[in-house]
Amino acid sequence: MPSQPILLVHGGAWAIPDDMVEAHLHGVRNAAEAGWRVLECGGSALDAIEAAVLVMEDDETFDAGCGSFLTRDGRVQLDALMMDGRTLRAGGVGCVEHIRNPILAARKILEESPHVYLVAQGAEAFAQEHGIELCSNAELVLPREIERLKQAQEKESSGEKHAIFASPAVSHDTVGAVARDRDGSIAAATSTGGTLNKTPGRVGDSSLLGCGCYADNESAACSTTGWGEPMMKLVLAKWAADQVLAGGDPARVASDAIHYLHRRLHGHGGLILLDAKGRFGLAHNTPRMAWAVRTAEKQDHGIKIESTPALQPLP
Ligand code: GLY
Repeated sequence: MPSQPILLVHGGAWAIPDDMVEAHLHGVRNAAEAGWRVLECGGSALDAIEAAVLVMEDDETFDAGCGSFLTRDGRVQLDALMMDGRTLRAGGVGCVEHIRNPILAARKILEESPHVYLVAQGAEAFAQEHGIELCSNAELVLPREIERLKQAQEKESSGEKHAIFASPAVSHDTVGAVARDRDGSIAAATSTGGTLNKTPGRVGDSSLLGCGCYADNESAACSTTGWGEPMMKLVLAKWAADQVLAGGDPARVASDAIHYLHRRLHGHGGLILLDAKGRFGLAHNTPRMAWAVRTAEKQDHGIKIESTPALQPLP
């Protein structure tokens, strides 16, 4: 008997301002629909998450693809990862500056490279050799982001060093998706421009296996969003998958993972989590997170942006 397909996406966890709510809802809804179209035609979880993330990379609302945050020296540097829970194959890119859709390069690495992770010029050369057209970095830079960078650097020079990373109010619009297909396989993908005013060469959690993204049919598929450094230190996506493997329900585990992130490192962000039985959870400790869920029954997609309940200590 075929499994019921399911797809979850997220489009960032932070204090999304009221005037940006509609753009975020629109973005995650479009992404969920793109991924769902693949699943309902019998496509794989991997194809579905690629389709969903592609839509959000192309949407300037999000910190992924065009419209991403800028490095300290005013460039876009992108990270992305995808992982197949059936085979445990994975593909990631870091610090790419000339690829409009890094998720496509990550997929090529997953499918066609003996390696798991390529960075910078090496990743770009591999992408180009595999049919992905390169673009100029300037094409990925928006005037909105030049202004944002200027403001962040003014704050920094007035003494607010690092505060721009560590506040849950600051934009963390990393995008991601997890899905289960009709064969009961799960997969996860995450894509980001990283943090505002980052040091050139910085790689965050999003494209690191087990940190910003993980998938294993025996445990769960997870994609995270938020302040990357604490998530990296806790290897948070793998932590969540391991809790599911140990018997945890994904809804509960998602919430526990965010509590763990906060308790250990005062980290903030959100995640989506899905197991091969189709059980899922999502949680965040930022004022808002953009997300969508799509199943055959949920025609309204379950899209919403909600306030987070106050953090409670773990029992
Ligand atoms: N979670 C995105 C980043 O920190 O790069």
